[in-house]
Amino acid sequence: MTELSKSGAAVGEPTAASHAATAFLEVRDLKVHFPTDDGLVKSVDGLSFKLEKGKTLGIVGESGSGKSVTSLGIMGLHTAGQYGKRKARISGEIWLNGTELLSADPDHVRKLRGRDMAMIFQDPLSALHPYYTIGQQIVEAYRIHHNVDKKTARKRAVEMLDRVGIPQPDKRVDNYPHEFSGGMRQRAMIAMSLVNNPELLIADEPTTALDVTVQAQILDLIRDLQKEFGSAVIIITHDLGVVAELADDILVMYGGRCVERGPADKVFYEPRHPYTWGLLGSMPRLDREQQDRLIPVKGSPPSLINVPSGCAFNPRCPYADVPKDNLTRTVRPELTEVGSDHWAACHMTQEQRERIWTEEIAPKL
Ligand SMILES: Nc1ncnc2c1ncn2[C@@H]1O[C@H](COP(=O)(O)OP(=O)(O)O)[C@@H](O)[C@H]1O
Ligand code: SF4
Ligand SMILES: [Mg+2]
Repeated sequence: MTELSKSGAAVGEPTAASHAATAFLEVRDLKVHFPTDDGLVKSVDGLSFKLEKGKTLGIVGESGSGKSVTSLGIMGLHTAGQYGKRKARISGEIWLNGTELLSADPDHVRKLRGRDMAMIFQDPLSALHPYYTIGQQIVEAYRIHHNVDKKTARKRAVEMLDRVGIPQPDKRVDNYPHEFSGGMRQRAMIAMSLVNNPELLIADEPTTALDVTVQAQILDLIRDLQKEFGSAVIIITHDLGVVAELADDILVMYGGRCVERGPADKVFYEPRHPYTWGLLGSMPRLDREQQDRLIPVKGSPPSLINVPSGCAFNPRCPYADVPKDNLTRTVRPELTEVGSDHWAACHMTQEQRERIWTEEIAPKL
């Protein structure tokens, strides 16, 4: 296990044994911990995954499972935000296109941010400045990384607004954020994120605040743009439905850790973790009369300060008594391969899980 840095944020030297990543984005044993008055909050506690260009990874989990902290960590923004006064402790490795970001010069990471990697947030108002027009902000984002005059950058801003489906872009470019609807603001933020053709785009709950129709439009837009630019995309959501058609791979987070990851069709059709079963059960379905979202699983997410011993999911897991020797409550399950590049962390045997899934869960979905 990697030792956490004692000196604060931008540490996390690759260990002697580490080697350069082969994937476009490779996250290895990422940990982001926050010291607080109540104790150490282990928001992300040993996360690893890979992502290639042109592919989409969906990161799914309930609120508070560490999804946003993961994305902020990748972007080098984990110290920002309301609790940012105290230094986050971050360790592990984040390889982007051959560069390890945690040990890289912060100035270098700043240059990559916005140019090589960009982020779309849930709330566009937090990313857009109220006192500047949409156009001024896109122009600014472009000119930080491109040595062009304002006129050229403005032309680019209008092009981008057009590309994300803003009507009359040559006029709307001079509007302020408050003159846009929620959906339009989200499109404007996407335009701003994509103005420099980033190779990595992280969309953190990009549609949560929007109504269903606009949600679908924004997801289509992200998909089209990805095809066009061939970027690597991470879509973060608490709703598996959002990534059903979009993601190549899915990573399910629980309590700051990955409990299951694999190709999307495997995670949807042959899931091997009880928490994933719960998430699938809570997806709204067309044939249900009510479209209200059910609670994914009974009970509430674990404390990230006092994580339950053994499997963090055990207080909520209907199958906690299935594994022998009370393993569930004493030993933390590691991710094991349950299929080709498909991993899950649960003490039940493969056979037990296959049986429960096929006989008890799948027929009810
Ligand atoms: N700066 C911080 N200081 C202390 N705790 C934090 C900080 N940022 C996030 N957390 C905690 O980390 C956990 C994971 O947060 P987050 O990644 O935002 O969850 P998600 O995006 O999955 O809803 C939460 O319990 C949150 O309160
Ligand atoms: S290890 Fe035990 S508690 Fe955890 S998911 Fe598996 S059966 Fe449930
Ligand atoms: Mg979040």
